[in-house]
Amino acid sequence: MTKARYTVTAALPYSNGPLHLGHVAGVYLPADIFVRFLRLKGHDVAFICGSDEHGAAITLRAKKEGITPQEIVDKYHRVLANSFKNFNIKFDIFHRTSSELHKKTAQEFFTKLNAEGKFTQLKSEQFYDEEYDQFLADRYITGECPNCHYASAYGDQCEKCGSSLSPSDLINPVSTLSGKPPKMRDTSHWYLPMEKHEDWLRPWIKEGVLDGEQQHDPKKWRNQVVGQCMSWIDGGLKPRAMTRDLDWGVTVPIDGADGKVLYVWLDAPIGYISATKQWALDNNKNWEDYWKGDSKLVHFIGKDNIVFHAIIFPIILKEHGGFILPDNVPASEFLNLEGDKFSTSRNWAVWLHEYLERYPTKIDELKYTLTAIAPESKDSEFTWIEYQNRVNNELADVLGNFVNRALVLTHKYYEGIIPEHGAFTTEDLLVLDTMKACPAKIERLLYDYKIREAQSEAMNLARLGNKYLADMEPWKLQKTDPDRVKTIMYVALQITGGLSVLLEPFLPDTAQKLRRFLAMNGCDWESLTIDALIKPGTQINSPTILFEKIDDDMVQYEQALLFATKESTEAQTVVPQKDLVEFDDFTKMDIRIGTILHAEKVKKADKLLQLTVDTGVDQRTIISGIAEHYGPEEIIGKQVTVLLNLAPRKIRGVESQGMILMAENSEGKLCFVSPESAIEPGSTVR
Ligand code: MF3
Ligand code: ZN
Repeated sequence: MTKARYTVTAALPYSNGPLHLGHVAGVYLPADIFVRFLRLKGHDVAFICGSDEHGAAITLRAKKEGITPQEIVDKYHRVLANSFKNFNIKFDIFHRTSSELHKKTAQEFFTKLNAEGKFTQLKSEQFYDEEYDQFLADRYITGECPNCHYASAYGDQCEKCGSSLSPSDLINPVSTLSGKPPKMRDTSHWYLPMEKHEDWLRPWIKEGVLDGEQQHDPKKWRNQVVGQCMSWIDGGLKPRAMTRDLDWGVTVPIDGADGKVLYVWLDAPIGYISATKQWALDNNKNWEDYWKGDSKLVHFIGKDNIVFHAIIFPIILKEHGGFILPDNVPASEFLNLEGDKFSTSRNWAVWLHEYLERYPTKIDELKYTLTAIAPESKDSEFTWIEYQNRVNNELADVLGNFVNRALVLTHKYYEGIIPEHGAFTTEDLLVLDTMKACPAKIERLLYDYKIREAQSEAMNLARLGNKYLADMEPWKLQKTDPDRVKTIMYVALQITGGLSVLLEPFLPDTAQKLRRFLAMNGCDWESLTIDALIKPGTQINSPTILFEKIDDDMVQYEQALLFATKESTEAQTVVPQKDLVEFDDFTKMDIRIGTILHAEKVKKADKLLQLTVDTGVDQRTIISGIAEHYGPEEIIGKQVTVLLNLAPRKIRGVESQGMILMAENSEGKLCFVSPESAIEPGSTVR
């Protein structure tokens, strides 16, 4: 029987920032381990990833960094690709959704589905920001989540409770561009009528059955994935717009769709297909082998991506026709960091590229720790102390110690030549048989996507070997019973060889080192079940230390760095409280609401507006440094807060009689402090 072919994808990271350890532990590392294992088993695999370069995630980042979206995606595509390469995560291709091939592929999908009437075109009113002249979909709008009441949910999703939203679901929505409540404006979009697909989605997700045929083993789908999908479907799927009014994305390939692009969640998953096409072109393969016919499609993702990979993309693939549907969608839960959620905006993160800059040789140390704590079935947490403990107590003291003893003693007693063994004792046989049983055990776990457990099984063999040598104490026996020692060393060396195979998916650099020490060529998963993996008489090489211990200094340094960035970002956004003042001092200030009657620019002063303000007491002139934030015409009639009794000052030759009070955010943006609704000028503020 030929081995199944696999198409394995890892969620395309947005090309708007670097990767942190949460992304790595949840998606990229398990996917890489799974693929390395499949290759060892002899499966034909395409391992696909790339950067997700469209959508509001990109344009908002560009606005923040003050550069163009193209510059943003170019910059971060490079950062992402380098981090993966340096961390030895090996995709067959790391493509880009901004490529021409991708645009064409995505447009072909849209055109075909549209021509076949798979979308409905609907007119609707949508939120609009008049100041920025832009419709406000997805991340352009925020407000309170109707489900969990988190205050800053996005128009497409609440990041707190994970529910998928529409802008109109938000309570008190505001534009993320201007910070103002949006207006409504007419537009029209192409919708995917998801509700029409509930009937086949249910049995397909729950039982793995599609059109009466068993397609996948539903027991292999993680409970949370099935659970989330079912709760969406049971809650009633709704039509979802597949186009957006934006100027960054794949243009809608239809007349009369000017200014519209494909919804990023339509275009991005198709990116898996276009990436496969590019890889096939570059490597003389046929992309259709991996998307049509008999390949098993597996999507590694984080839990916030479940609806897109297990519901929306399968609908698109099925409606298109001819494509396979996912065999599994192994989604992970979230990884936390030192007692708090990873947060890019608060800079509460360990960034992969920074770790790799500081510790370029500690690759497998990080891989091992992240897999050991992988958030497979529930949220988990990374701490530097745990990292230190895992490396020191498990990698160094168990695996490193065992291998080092086995190899050093072989050099000491036999000049590096693998000895012949004598009769095996029950203990020897127990150890050898345990090793022979390992591949089947680990294999079962990996085929079931239990990657964390699989790694821990492989480490158990190192534990067993370490205990075996400690119990046998060959260093004591060598004087009295050197023949027995030969057998002991032979057994220990077989275990070392076995580890060099079993650890290959998880710790590829370490496994390769082991094989170099043992002068093994190649790595054969099935070889563990045969006797004499390492043949007597083989000359082996001198070992070097596998893992340095992590000292307290490193832990303290990393912790300090993390907490320092947290403090500095907090200091940036919140100005510390000033010294106390007495109430009497406060009442000396005469603060009132005034109405701006007239405004004009002050000549040769870019920042200044000259205002005439009705203070209720009088009409007076105030010079205000707001010209960079407001044009004169847009503030006439505005009610603002005024400090009336500030001693008059001459500014640019004009006497300013008071001061307009403004709120300033951490980025220096100014907003008026205005009454909730109109109020008489002269009303006091206290
Ligand atoms: N960029 C998305 C995220 O980071 C993932 C996209 S996965 C794909 O959440 F399927 F759309 F490609
Ligand atoms: Zn919520």
